[in-house]
Amino acid sequence: MADDRKPLISGNWKMHQNHFEAIQAVQKLSYLLTKEDIAAVDVSIHAPFTDIRSVQTTIESDKIPITIGAQDCHPEVKGAFTGEVSVSMLAKLNVGLVIVGHSERRELFGETDEFVNAKVKAVFAHEMLPILCCGETLAEREAGEAESKISGQITAGLAKIPAEQVARMVIAYEPIWAIGTGVTASAEDAQAMCAHVRQVVAEAKDADAAASVRIQYGGSVKPANAAELMGQADIDGALVGGASLEPDDFAKIVQYRLN
Ligand code: 13P
Repeated sequence: MADDRKPLISGNWKMHQNHFEAIQAVQKLSYLLTKEDIAAVDVSIHAPFTDIRSVQTTIESDKIPITIGAQDCHPEVKGAFTGEVSVSMLAKLNVGLVIVGHSERRELFGETDEFVNAKVKAVFAHEMLPILCCGETLAEREAGEAESKISGQITAGLAKIPAEQVARMVIAYEPIWAIGTGVTASAEDAQAMCAHVRQVVAEAKDADAAASVRIQYGGSVKPANAAELMGQADIDGALVGGASLEPDDFAKIVQYRLN
C-alpha cells in the first residue's frame, strides 16, 4: 500500500443480518475499533437495503466514524422498476460508498458492463463514491484470460467517467474462485492483479487517476491473511464478505497493522 492512499476496509454483508442484528453488529464494531484504527484506516459497512436506515441512525446518534455503504443501486432516480432501490434513495440515507458490479450481481442477475457503467455514473452524480468490482472465474484464470477479463470490465465500467472522478473512487479486484471458498489468492497473485488494474486505469484515464484510485482485494480475506495482503504495494484495502459478519474478526482485519 502506498503512503498517500488511505486504506479502506469494507464489510460486504451480502444477504445476511436483519436490521436488529445490524444495529448490534455496528455497535459492537464501534466498541472494538479505536481512534487510532479509524485514523489509520477508512471503514465502511455495506448492509442489506432493509438495514441501512437502522445502520444510519445508529452511526449518526452514536457518532461512529464508519462510512455507511450499500451493496448495489439502480441508476435511475425513480421509475417503474419493481424491487429496485434508487441511487437517490441511498444518497438520502447518507450512504457514502456503493458497491457496483459485484460478481454475484453479474453472474447471478445478469448485469452487463454497460449497466454497471450507468451505476458508476449515477453514484457520482449523487455525490457518493462507487466501489467498482471486477474479477475472473477459475476457468478464465486457467485459460490465461484473467488480465484481459479485468481490462474489459474496468475499461467498460469506467467509460466516460472523468479521470478526476476515477481518482477518488475505489476498485475491488475479487477473483470469483476466491469468494466464499476459503481459497485466498496468494499475496503475489493479488498484488500482480491489482497492479494490472492500476495499469488499466493509467491507460484508460491518466497517471494521476491511476496513482490515486484505491484498489481493494476481495476473496476470503480473514484476520490471518489481512496483514500480508495489505502489505502489497498496489493493495489499498479489502472488500470482506464472510469475515465481516463477525465484528471480532472484522475488527481484527481493520487492525491488520497490529499483527
Ligand atoms: P468472502 O470474503 O466471503 O470470500 O467474500 C468476498 C466478497 O465477495 C466481498 O464482496
